[in-house]
Amino acid sequence: MATDDFYHEVHLNLNVRGLKHSATLRINEYSNQLISEGKKVYKLGLGQSPFPVPDIVVQGLINNAREKDYLPVKGLPALREAISSFYYRHWGKKYLVENIVIGPGSKELLFLLQLCYYGELIIPTPSWVSYAPQAKIIGRNIHWIATKKENFWRLTPAELDKICRHDPKKPRLLILNYPSNPTGYTYKNEELIELAAVARKYKVVLVSDEIYGMLDHKGDHHSICTHYPEGTIISGGLSKWCGAGGWRLGALAFPKSLSWLADALSVAASETFTSTSAPIQYAAVTAFEPHPEMDFYLERARKILLHLGQYCNRILNEAGINNAAPHGGFYLFPDFSNFRNKFLQHDIFDSETMCDKLLESAGVATLPGSEFGCPPSVYTLRISYVNFDGRKAIDAAVTETVDDLFIEKYCPDTLVAMKEIVKWVSAL
Ligand SMILES: Cc1ncc(COP(=O)(O)O)c(C=O)c1O
Repeated sequence: MATDDFYHEVHLNLNVRGLKHSATLRINEYSNQLISEGKKVYKLGLGQSPFPVPDIVVQGLINNAREKDYLPVKGLPALREAISSFYYRHWGKKYLVENIVIGPGSKELLFLLQLCYYGELIIPTPSWVSYAPQAKIIGRNIHWIATKKENFWRLTPAELDKICRHDPKKPRLLILNYPSNPTGYTYKNEELIELAAVARKYKVVLVSDEIYGMLDHKGDHHSICTHYPEGTIISGGLSKWCGAGGWRLGALAFPKSLSWLADALSVAASETFTSTSAPIQYAAVTAFEPHPEMDFYLERARKILLHLGQYCNRILNEAGINNAAPHGGFYLFPDFSNFRNKFLQHDIFDSETMCDKLLESAGVATLPGSEFGCPPSVYTLRISYVNFDGRKAIDAAVTETVDDLFIEKYCPDTLVAMKEIVKWVSAL
């Protein structure tokens, strides 16, 4: 064999062959190229909190900058204690400290979880971009469940039952994310009760990805762990509600019945990332403890996201774009199917082309619904409505009322971007 053959992609592991860089990166690069050509681009592609990390948590990091030792693999005991108490305060469920695992972001933990649990992955369409590629890398089967726009793209108990009753004993891992990335919609408590009943019937291991939970716009987030405690693993972290995506801190909380899975994951963690950054873990304790300052920060963040989400939704609805106001987080997931005929006349046959044309013509960067598992021919987009100065807005919300005028004053670019979308689609 010639030497060159050793340096050839035929040696790529089959599981990673054909995987592309995430669409977020692609759109970002394309946006930067347009910006370098002197074009104005509204960046609504990136799912990052616009708000600063709360001062009290930053101070925690400053105070602990000298922490330099490796910490236990599962994480700093004081932090796991704080997270256990946090869930107990919110949901009245006791997650044992030894069953809480801290990692460098929940993404990494979800990957290791899929690696350790031998079961088929079940995810509703649309779902967050990384669940399926992670399963593919590991070599797990992926079962997408199609959802309906009329149900706000959420999984129904009947849809879940239909999948499970096929082979009732098959081990399955269901990831339910609410409030949702990409849709911004969430489940009501009654809906969680019904889904929990189906999950229990088939002993589905349920990962409740509540990374946007504290950003439920009305502060009314419910967790399915209260209805299916024995089978629910809660996934969370600092990235979204604490504005600290770059800090890389996530956590999984396992019920007693799944202690063995927490232990297995900890072994995998010990052979991969070892433990999460020590200063970050010390600082995170503050974020999970009860502090009036944290409550006030969250109250303002939610109000801004609520009013901005509603305002954006109105602009889209008035132009005939199908959408409903989001319930939490900072995403919108409009459906442009009303414009299908116009799109077809302009050779726009799928959501990816729609997304590219919108960026080229209107300078608005979004992500196509196909990236989240939606059929490409369904004209959906994920809009991340975070292109405003979050520090200025959250500081102003200390003294100013958050209403439409506030939104116009502090989030002008987001509103302009919505109007650009409307202008583009109307002019086709
Ligand atoms: C739904 C969802 N889950 C998990 C993650 C991972 O977050 P992190 O790894 O920052 O904890 C994200 C990040 O965008 C997300 O949107």
